Amino acid sequence: MTGKNGHTCLFSCLFDKHNRKILVTAKNDVYNMRKNIRILVHILITTCLLACADSQKVFKDTTTNGKSAFSQNGMVVTAHPQATKVGYEILKKGGNSIDAMVGVHFALAVVYPSAGNLGGGGFMMYRENNGEVFSLDFREKASGNAYEDMYLDEDGNVIEGESLYGQKASGVPGSVDGMLTAHQKFGSLPFSELIEPAIKLAKKGFLVTSKQARNYNHYKDAFIEHNRNPGTVQLVKEKEWKEGDLLVQKDLAKTLERIKENGRAGFYEGKTAELLVAEMNAGNGIITLEDLKNYHSTWREPVTGNYRDFKVYSMAPSSSGGIALVQLLKMSEHFPLSEFGSKSAKTIHVMTEMERRVYADRAKHLGDSDFWDVPTDELLDDKYIASRVEQIDLSQATSSEEVRAMDLDNINESEETTHYSIIDMQGNAVSLTTTINSAYGSKVFVEGAGFLMNNEMDDFSSKPGVPNKYGLLGGAANSIQPGKRMLSAMTPTILEKDGKLFMVVGTPGGSTIITSVYQTILNVIDHEMSMTGAVSEKRFHHQWKPDQIYMEEGAIEESVIKELNGMGHKVKRRSSIGKVDAILVRPDGSYEGAADPRGDDWAIGIE
Ligand code: DON
Repeated sequence: MTGKNGHTCLFSCLFDKHNRKILVTAKNDVYNMRKNIRILVHILITTCLLACADSQKVFKDTTTNGKSAFSQNGMVVTAHPQATKVGYEILKKGGNSIDAMVGVHFALAVVYPSAGNLGGGGFMMYRENNGEVFSLDFREKASGNAYEDMYLDEDGNVIEGESLYGQKASGVPGSVDGMLTAHQKFGSLPFSELIEPAIKLAKKGFLVTSKQARNYNHYKDAFIEHNRNPGTVQLVKEKEWKEGDLLVQKDLAKTLERIKENGRAGFYEGKTAELLVAEMNAGNGIITLEDLKNYHSTWREPVTGNYRDFKVYSMAPSSSGGIALVQLLKMSEHFPLSEFGSKSAKTIHVMTEMERRVYADRAKHLGDSDFWDVPTDELLDDKYIASRVEQIDLSQATSSEEVRAMDLDNINESEETTHYSIIDMQGNAVSLTTTINSAYGSKVFVEGAGFLMNNEMDDFSSKPGVPNKYGLLGGAANSIQPGKRMLSAMTPTILEKDGKLFMVVGTPGGSTIITSVYQTILNVIDHEMSMTGAVSEKRFHHQWKPDQIYMEEGAIEESVIKELNGMGHKVKRRSSIGKVDAILVRPDGSYEGAADPRGDDWAIGIE
């Protein structure tokens, strides 16, 4: 190659836009060549990092602080600034909330790999601006090869970790089908446009946040342990991750491109499906090509109920969230909670007593309604609710041993599900919770396809009386059967007041999802907090068994804890509970978006 100055050089083409030479190669000696290579690499890396950093900076400047945003026109709140940005841009160019949901979902699969996913599932609540509400169940299903005792050893004991780690822990993923199914019915922009931002983020990379850097370092050993070739896992690198490092995911980009080109078949058939099944076969996985081909998400009738002046729409089984939430709210109507105050011993006591009873019902009666006759009407019946309330002693805790489910006849949570709330410029609202269960699911990346598989099989009851990862108990209603969906606690919820949209809310948090959504609603309705206040407020949780109130650090004053102890409650402190992303419609019709300060969550309004 000959440079302008007549010397033979490697980089003579490097001129800036004003035609100034930015790389000088005066002499063709080895020293200069090495030096120039170093300079070139430096320039390329810096340009690339600046480009990414710049886009984040410009984006951050468009809202107040990302945690709380106000708008007249629309709102996006998700667990990651880059995913929020994708949703925001789709809305800005005229997409509706379903379009934004699709963009956000695929973006989260790239920029929030701990929970955003292709290899998981979830639930969508969608309210059109005309008041019609739809819900989509795209929860994972057990493989056709699954069977009731698949996690038990010869003596009938649960084999520790088998439903949590490695290939055998996964259910058949539902997310890609869910996105396509919802888009087909309600989307307005072409699917290919909506998935494109995710492809770009995977191909070009994004800058990891400090929380993410810590998280990737924390899980490095687990990724190495559970992957055949950890060198192919792009979350594993030799040096420690630091804030601002660039994460590029080439294989994931190719998988997303196959979905863009072939829709459903880009994931459930062809190369992606073959890579997924090869991954299963490389370990003790049981998912087959047939399982993938047969997977379809299901439209469900939302669970509805009234709470004071509000109407609640939430998720039906295979999630327990809707039934449990409506039970809790209906019981709460029997108590003057606003008079009791948000953090008084009295309020915490009665909420705990209600939660204890609701989780007992959940353990016995809830499971995938395609396989189990869930007594929804009976569980939500006013007389039954009143009978449960009557059992509550205002001055004394009931022992969980004494609380039984309706008679028809150790928490180790991490923030690894994700919820997002969206309202578009026409007032259509999406409330969506999605997960691969634990942080980074089964820890297994599908080799060559770059995405993580879920460990959702742990949400089944492997054996009656043996708690799952979240300490939840279950029985026949939630036993493993081929093609069945494992019971979830995910609670994407929409509230109306006077027939108009009032709130869009949801959260991750395993078994604490239901109680976190419940508390957030009470904080706004009974304790008159803003959305931001309600989301930031410290939380507590009780789930029948173990018989403990779990309390976030600093949630309650010592004197209140003493009072609770005096009533017979055991209180245990723990790290954060839930990560709520929600939107409130204020009396003037404008929106308040609230992104949980516990995470990198980000809210942005459309002006
Ligand atoms: O579906 C469920 O209820 C669980 N797989 C959710 C897990 C979860 O929220 C973990 N993150 N915090």
